[in-house]
Amino acid sequence: MHKIALLAAAFTVSATAAMAAPRTDEPIQPIEPAKVKDAGLVELGKKLYFDPRLSKSGFISCNSCHNLSMGGTDNLKTSIGHNWNKGPINAPTVLNSSLNLAQFWDGRALTLQDQAGGPIANPGEMASTHTLAISVLQSIPAYVAEYKKVFGTDKVSIDGVTKAIAAFEETLVTPNSRFDKWLKGDNKALTKQELAGYELFKDSGCTACHNGAAAGGNTFQKMGVVEPYKSTSTAEGRVAVTKEEADRFYFKVPTLRNVEMTYPYFHDGEAETMSEAVDTMGRIQLGRKFSAEENASIVAFLKTLTGDQPSFMLPILPPSNEKTPQPEPFN
Ligand code: HEC
Ligand code: HEC
Repeated sequence: MHKIALLAAAFTVSATAAMAAPRTDEPIQPIEPAKVKDAGLVELGKKLYFDPRLSKSGFISCNSCHNLSMGGTDNLKTSIGHNWNKGPINAPTVLNSSLNLAQFWDGRALTLQDQAGGPIANPGEMASTHTLAISVLQSIPAYVAEYKKVFGTDKVSIDGVTKAIAAFEETLVTPNSRFDKWLKGDNKALTKQELAGYELFKDSGCTACHNGAAAGGNTFQKMGVVEPYKSTSTAEGRVAVTKEEADRFYFKVPTLRNVEMTYPYFHDGEAETMSEAVDTMGRIQLGRKFSAEENASIVAFLKTLTGDQPSFMLPILPPSNEKTPQPEPFN
């Protein structure tokens, strides 16, 4: 009897050591799983996200540049669009984009729905028009039937299309990273090096800009606070939206969630590795030169921000027919 009580006490002690109380006063909070309100709307949005027939060529879908098998990016310095057009800027991840204060590097779209209409009609991206994209969908009976089930009308509109895509994007969150497990009290979730990297990340001031659930995405900040950032890119940042000279080279702080997967880095895609990005950030944002060991520990911490990637059945798209406008391939 006595022995059993002692064993139970020992068990409780070791369990307490592995689990602590949730760490609620950290500058970064855990990512919560998405709550799906309308499964039909999300399913339609998923099909549209993967459907290259929203592009003029019938070749480019949202997933071409925001590949959900690769962290929601294309892993290219700048994206490739219609006619092999080389885009002007690096594609940010769509993962956790619902947590952003606004969309695009300069925040020119306020919501995911506002954003989703842009690439379809952008001549350098999908190069279609909203009218053409709608007539493609309208010609496909299975799409019209699904649309009617969701919206109660068989008249497809860009408003419905972008609403569905945005609802799908809202499900693309990445909970359960090792860092989040640590935040939730799992003491064994991080190694000593990763924890040291996180302490250094906080102590040197990275969390002034990379904070909140997404470790970014919630403010616009100057690229080059202490030292100017040299780039051949013509992107000017937030000034393009506000027309305020003070906003020149202010960019939306990117999320660091899944940053291990979303290389290359910065709006111009100039930093090829995390180590390079960390070195540049330390130098130009904080006036700090990290040793190789410090850099490695911050990189080790950043890798703990990789969460569960979206996982679902690849949607099967309803076929085109003789009424569907034909794709126009690249010249
Ligand atoms: C040809 C490549 C390409 C295609 C196709 C494309 N995008 Fe993008 N996307 C980009 C680039 C590049 C940016 C950044 C543009 C900028 O900030 O000026 C971007 C930005 C975004 C953002 C903002 C993310 C953030 O953090 O600011 C979202 C969301 C997004 N795209 C969703 C979509 C959806 C939905 C589709 C399909 C309807 C789509 N994209 C098609 C390249 C592409
Ligand atoms: C003053 C605000 C600020 C501080 C401090 C800051 N960052 Fe950043 N960070 C940004 C902005 C803004 C960008 C995007 C800049 C751009 O591409 O033009 C960025 C980009 C990054 C990127 C690239 C992400 C991507 O997807 O392109 C990484 C990695 C990063 N920061 C890590 C850090 C680390 C590590 C620290 C601390 C050493 C740090 N940052 C400190 C504002 C900040």
